[in-house]
Amino acid sequence: MQNDTLLANYDRLYRPERPFTRLAMDLLVERVLAPRLRGRVFAELGISTGIVSVRLAPLADRMVLVDANPDYCAQVRARLTEAAPALDAELHCAFFDAFDWSRLAGVTDVFLLSMVHVLPGVWPALLGHIRGAVAPGARLHVTMSNRRALNRLLGRDLGLLPSLDAVDAQAAAFDTHYVDAETLQSEAEARGWRVTHREGFLCRPLPLDAMDAFIDRAGMEVLWHMGRALPEPYANSTYLCLEAQT
Ligand SMILES: C[S@@+](CC[C@H](N)C(=O)[O-])C[C@H]1O[C@@H](n2cnc3c(N)ncnc32)[C@H](O)[C@@H]1O
Repeated sequence: MQNDTLLANYDRLYRPERPFTRLAMDLLVERVLAPRLRGRVFAELGISTGIVSVRLAPLADRMVLVDANPDYCAQVRARLTEAAPALDAELHCAFFDAFDWSRLAGVTDVFLLSMVHVLPGVWPALLGHIRGAVAPGARLHVTMSNRRALNRLLGRDLGLLPSLDAVDAQAAAFDTHYVDAETLQSEAEARGWRVTHREGFLCRPLPLDAMDAFIDRAGMEVLWHMGRALPEPYANSTYLCLEAQT
């Protein structure tokens, strides 16, 4: 997909800041990411409105943030100035193919969250670029949407999705192609990463609009525990913690 079409589609269709996602990101940072941090120098690739960046900022001394969308970059700069004025924040408004990967030197933790499925054909090389820029021991935290997530299985069984490989019109506008965690893991290992932890997290039985209508923190706790009880591929997403090898 053309870069300008992609940016226009994000502006038109993407809504990261919604009740369900905010509550989910609170728990993701608190329970999955924070306990596995390597240090306090972070890079986040694909920040959208900063929904995760603002939650990570209190745990960082320095952050390198990259996103192609200029509106998102401006929003994140304003949010971080207000939420974490002491943070050394370096914002790059760039597509990944034009990004200077040497900017990641000294970074202890890189975040690639909900990105792999919107970077078809691009994400394997990205794993190599990141590995080439960081020191051994640095961590790459990846979350990815599961093709076989419960909501997609239900959608298929209700006739709303023709197959598990299908994506709805909105997802198609972001060039969405689901990637299995096994594929991510083997491509990462081939590029000098080792998986130190992997888990499925969160259960989302209904479409996001329906979830937004009734979700609160107590409801999110229930869905979080349901996600832990599900076999990994049926949870909403999978998290992989990767460590750069020597
Ligand atoms: C699906 S959103 C993920 C946002 C965030 N990581 C999260 O967890 O909510 C994808 C983000 O990546 C950005 N993006 C998509 N393709 C990109 C590319 N090739 N280069 C740089 N940014 C890109 C979009 O502008 C958008 O903000």
